[in-house]
Amino acid sequence: MNNVTNIEGVIMTTETPILIIGKNGKTGARVNAQLNEKGISTLAVSRSSTPIFDWNKPKTWACALKGIKQAYVTYYPDLAVPSAESNLRNFVNAAKSQGVEHLVLLSGRGEGGAIRAENVLINSGLRWNVVRASWFFQNFSEAFLIEGIQQGNLVLPVGDVLEPFIDCDDIAEVVVAALTRPELANQLFEVTGPQLMTFADCVAQISEEVGRVITYTEVPLGSYLAQLKEIGLSDDELWLMNELFSKVLDGRNSQVSDGVQQALGRAPRRFADYAKAAHTSGAWTAAA
Ligand SMILES: NC(=O)c1ccc[n+]([C@@H]2O[C@H](COP(=O)([O-])OP(=O)(O)OC[C@H]3O[C@@H](n4cnc5c(N)ncnc54)[C@H](OP(=O)(O)O)[C@@H]3O)[C@@H](O)[C@H]2O)c1
Repeated sequence: MNNVTNIEGVIMTTETPILIIGKNGKTGARVNAQLNEKGISTLAVSRSSTPIFDWNKPKTWACALKGIKQAYVTYYPDLAVPSAESNLRNFVNAAKSQGVEHLVLLSGRGEGGAIRAENVLINSGLRWNVVRASWFFQNFSEAFLIEGIQQGNLVLPVGDVLEPFIDCDDIAEVVVAALTRPELANQLFEVTGPQLMTFADCVAQISEEVGRVITYTEVPLGSYLAQLKEIGLSDDELWLMNELFSKVLDGRNSQVSDGVQQALGRAPRRFADYAKAAHTSGAWTAAA
């Protein structure tokens, strides 16, 4: 049973769980844990859950949406992909027809496709929140950058572009605030970390934390994509990588924003503190 404060500030009890799309994801798992810690029940779904939820199989959506009033939505692989806007529109319509009242959408900064998808939700007539995030700290410890860190040399097609990387714990806290504090409804939170860093800065910080040499190597985008093709990435995945490294990381996002402060009334977490915690948890020890 969930206690949620309504728009007049009255505590109401709801029987329905909050749906989380992206059960095992970097933010979905954290939102799920934080809600459960507050005693709020959830239904966390992905392709490997019961019920199954698959963005590529719209027939799986209705079962997950049944009886749901609120949901946290992470799109896979990325709202930048060309099919995302129409897929999200179909999903929002399905949610509305099932009686969903409030959706919180995770979005990415500087992506044209993401802005079009955000607008689908903002103009849907549902209660909405968009949490538009910069690059995650956890890409270095829970996603595709981990291998380079473990092997001692991170290779990417990015030079000295500054990015305000953010902690997924902060993103999850902002999402949970949006889901549980009705006064935050119908707002977009642009969330970043507190400082601008290059990828080389991040690697140097991790290297210092783990106490061994880890280098950063910039390579041309063409040869990076050719290598990814060689190891079997699909055309869609290659399209996304090209989009991320040629557009999203061209310097357009090289400014911090105050979404964490706005939603939570405190500053976002620092990369150095994340690196310490990730190292302590053994994130980078596997292939050392
Ligand atoms: N990484 C960043 O720096 C960054 C920055 C800003 C925004 N974003 C946005 O973050 C979103 C991803 O969220 P996240 O990082 O929290 O998740 P994530 O860590 O990428 O995890 C995604 C989860 O989605 C599930 N999944 C994969 N394919 C699926 C499909 N076809 N249908 C349903 N679920 C599927 C997987 O679980 P199963 O295998 O069990 O299905 C996986 O555990 C993307 O939209 C991206 O644009 C990312």
